[in-house]
Amino acid sequence: MSGHGPAKPMTSRKGDALKGVANVPGDKSVSHRSLIFGAMTVGETKIEGLLEGQDVLDTAKAMRAFGAEVERTGEGQWRVHGVGVGGFAEPEDVIDCGNSGTGVRLIMGAMATSPIAATFTGDASLRSRPMGRITDPISLFGARSFGRAEGRLPLTIIGAQNPGPVEYRSPVPSAQVKSAVLLAGLNAPGITTLIEAEATRDHTERMLKGFGAKVETEVTPDGRYIHLTGQPELTPIDITVPRDPSSAAFPVCAALIAEGSDVLVPNISLNPTRAGLYTTLQEMGADLTFENEREEGGEPVADLRAKFSPDMKGIEVPPERAASMIDEFPVLSVVAASATGATKMLGVKELRVKESDRIDAMARGLEDMGVTVEETEDTFTVHGMGAGGVPGGGIAEARLDHRIAMSFLVLGFSTQKPVSVDDGSPIDTSFPIFEPLMQELGASVARSNS
Ligand code: S3P
Repeated sequence: MSGHGPAKPMTSRKGDALKGVANVPGDKSVSHRSLIFGAMTVGETKIEGLLEGQDVLDTAKAMRAFGAEVERTGEGQWRVHGVGVGGFAEPEDVIDCGNSGTGVRLIMGAMATSPIAATFTGDASLRSRPMGRITDPISLFGARSFGRAEGRLPLTIIGAQNPGPVEYRSPVPSAQVKSAVLLAGLNAPGITTLIEAEATRDHTERMLKGFGAKVETEVTPDGRYIHLTGQPELTPIDITVPRDPSSAAFPVCAALIAEGSDVLVPNISLNPTRAGLYTTLQEMGADLTFENEREEGGEPVADLRAKFSPDMKGIEVPPERAASMIDEFPVLSVVAASATGATKMLGVKELRVKESDRIDAMARGLEDMGVTVEETEDTFTVHGMGAGGVPGGGIAEARLDHRIAMSFLVLGFSTQKPVSVDDGSPIDTSFPIFEPLMQELGASVARSNS
């Protein structure tokens, strides 16, 4: 869906304390990977708890276009009959990945070493995002790409006829780049090596191993070397998608700033490559506890309990933590606005190339709500106004970015005047039940003027 439907203006306001249990949807990263890796496997992969947000639905459609059978058998239950590594058919039409950078970048990597052509596009947000970070490494495998400036979409890739293995040092901390290179390496004989300076989310490595691929990670002073042995026969597995820690961040942060709140968010993965927000919140003095800590599917999991925390203090968030909380900086900025003192986020320039320029989107929106911020290319500082101290009363621009929309709606639960966003419709890409889930907790959030 490269078009964008009618805007949905939304407003949130201070109301009752938030109480209860928040069952957030399946993890977006794992959901995309379940469909794509399943499509590259011969046989039937069964998936439970798939996130049925628009981003993932667009990936399901794309996998059908490449020849896999993808079937929904119940709520969150899906089956994928894959075509095997190197078995992708040439799509008959343009692949539209909607709003999803993860979808398009992983799929581009996955098809880059098959002798087929495919053209990719997306919505206005996705068409503005850099794809050179994918077209550069896949050219080393022999794939050719023809896009707009800096590889922007729409873009056509002609996959390599005779791919060879590649060693590639990623110039940016990005799990999407890492995953695209490893997926391209699946259909190249020999060992493909991806080197990353710091750890980014490792779902691709964990899941490919689960499907039977040989993936080894070597941690050296010079970076993390991830070695993948090409041309494995992937074998189908049953996948239970864990709940999304990035979606959990919204009810958790809402509870921390809305007076009197006490919310339990069960079954959240605390994979260290995803858990940076929770460390940060604890350093700020958030009343956050991890209950029932356990291991599920090889990942550390806990039930998170968040309570109203009027005494949070601003802190400096170190640059080496950025990758492990890259999607959580917008909602952290909202918590920071309700803390005392400044919160300085370092090493965050990747935020400028997300679904929107998230530093600019948060900065302008927070200023509109009466908060003072400072930014450089790579840092973002929010001057906290203390619990209940943010005036609010503005209308933030969502800029086709689900996390910007949800972050401002969370802010509204603590502000003196209501907070509006011009368009809440992008929330459907990752958290389609955000509005009813927050309402169930007692929050006042709805379409504007309703
Ligand atoms: C993702 C990686 C991150 C993240 C995105 C999901 C993934 O992007 O922001 O929401 O599933 O690999 P980058 O790789 O661009 O940091």
